[in-house]
Amino acid sequence: MPDDLTITGPEVEAYLAQILPERDPVLVEMEAQAARRAIPIVGPAVGRLLYLAARMIGARRIFEFGSAIGYSTLWWARAAGEMGEVFYTDNSLENHREAAGYFTRAGVAGRIRQLGPGDALAAFQSTTGAFDLIFCDVNKPAYPEVLRLSLPRLRSGGLLVADNVLWSGKVARPDDSRETQAILEFNRAAYASPDLFPVIVPLRDGVLIARKS
Ligand SMILES: C[S@@+](CC[C@H](N)C(=O)[O-])C[C@H]1O[C@@H](n2cnc3c(N)ncnc32)[C@H](O)[C@@H]1O
Repeated sequence: MPDDLTITGPEVEAYLAQILPERDPVLVEMEAQAARRAIPIVGPAVGRLLYLAARMIGARRIFEFGSAIGYSTLWWARAAGEMGEVFYTDNSLENHREAAGYFTRAGVAGRIRQLGPGDALAAFQSTTGAFDLIFCDVNKPAYPEVLRLSLPRLRSGGLLVADNVLWSGKVARPDDSRETQAILEFNRAAYASPDLFPVIVPLRDGVLIARKS
C-alpha cells in the first residue's frame, strides 16, 4: 500500500503526467505557487477531468467547497464559459486575495463569485437556487455534511464531484482518523443514495463523480 498520492503506482503516475499538454502561464504559475506553499490543489490531470465533466453536462452554475488559491476554480470557470457563475469559497483571506489576482489575469473574474473568507458550508447555505455541479474539496470531516447539503440543491442531471475519495489508499486499509472515517462515510452514503449514480475515478487521490437522477 503506498503512503503517498500514488494510487495507480509511480510509473503510471509519471506516464499520466508526461502525456499532459502544457498549461497556460496562469495555471503554470498557480501550480508552482501551490508546490511552494504546499497547497493540495487537484493538479492538471484532475483539472482536465473537472473541465471535461462540466463541459459534458453544459454546467453553468457551479459551487466549489474549498478553493484555496483558485486552481480548480479556474478550470471550472473556463468550462462554464462566459455565461458561467462559479462560486469560490475558502476560509483563508490570503488565499482569497491571491485567487482574485489569478482570476483577473486569466480573464475570468467576471464569472467567479468569491464568498467569504469563511466556512464554505455556511457560504453554501447563504446561496439560493439550484446548481448544475457541486465540487467538494474542503476539510475531510465535513464531506458527509457537504453531501447532505448538496443533494437537494443539485438540479436533475447535475453532478456532485469530490476529490480525495481514495485518501491515499486509506479507504482500503482504514485507520481511526476522523478524515478517513468521514471519507468512508461519504463514499458509502453516495453509493447508497437512490438519487445518485456515482463512479470513483482512481486518478491521483481518487475523484468521485455522481450524477443526480
Ligand atoms: C484541498 S484545498 C482546495 C484546493 C482547490 N480545490 C484546488 O484544487 O485548487 C482545501 C482548501 O479549503 C480550505 N478549507 C478547508 N475546510 C474549509 C471550510 N470548512 N470552509 C472553508 N474553507 C475550508 C482550506 O483552507 C484549503 O485552502
